[in-house]
Amino acid sequence: MQAPLFSCDNLSLDLGGREVLRKIGFSLKRGEVLGIIGPNGAGKTSLLEILSGRYQPKTGRVTFKGEDITALPLFRRARLGLGRTYQTPIVCEDLTVGETFKAARQAFRPYLTRFDAEYGAGLVDFVTPHATPNARLKTFERRKLLLANLLMRRPDVLLMDEPAAGLINAEIDEIDQILRMLSKEMNIGVVIVEHRMELLESIADRVMVMDAGEVIAEGLMQDVIRSPAVRAAYFEAH
Ligand SMILES: Nc1ncnc2c1ncn2[C@@H]1O[C@H](COP(=O)(O)OP(=O)(O)OP(=O)(O)O)[C@@H](O)[C@H]1O
Ligand SMILES: [Mg+2]
Repeated sequence: MQAPLFSCDNLSLDLGGREVLRKIGFSLKRGEVLGIIGPNGAGKTSLLEILSGRYQPKTGRVTFKGEDITALPLFRRARLGLGRTYQTPIVCEDLTVGETFKAARQAFRPYLTRFDAEYGAGLVDFVTPHATPNARLKTFERRKLLLANLLMRRPDVLLMDEPAAGLINAEIDEIDQILRMLSKEMNIGVVIVEHRMELLESIADRVMVMDAGEVIAEGLMQDVIRSPAVRAAYFEAH
């Protein structure tokens, strides 16, 4: 059997003396979109922090392209082709768009060219002029700028924390199209944490539902939302 592109197994994490993740595992193939849902505080962002390398798990391991990357720091994982986006799209407010692209091109070797930057921008249809100060960018432009900067490095896996947060419906439709293109045309494996069920229903090949640090259901969106455990988690939490 072919090894998965990206996987984790038996991940547990303590924060502030409390167990916030317990025995989490999944695997992801090229071109596949795994959706992660769950009530506030379920542990979704904490899981991405382990997968991207900011937190070390108490137990378990993370593998990428056949290699155990559990002990690798964030920047080493990025260089291997693991991209990450954040719940809040923070850009450096002192830079312009053009300066941001240049910083990303030169963030590590091999340094990339302007053509690579244009390629990244083109993938997400980012058309804001390079002289624009980042401080003037709206949420959607910030998300696109950060995504363009990731994509010009041609990652194999993208971890995305609520990419539709703070966007209006027309923008969410565009995110939907972008994610479809990244997974199905560019063959990138995508792990997406998202509250908007309709977005996940449209793009996720399968979903994993978390509650209080554990996986409580897994499968097709239409099946998991009917699961009694999932309904209980949502009704109790909201
Ligand atoms: N640095 C920290 N120290 C202590 N506890 C933390 C820390 N970060 C998160 N937690 C706790 O861990 C649990 C999981 O938080 P996490 O942010 O991973 O949830 P989430 O599923 O991403 O929630 P949301 O949907 O609100 O983004 C919560 O109970 C949270 O209060
Ligand atoms: Mg979160």
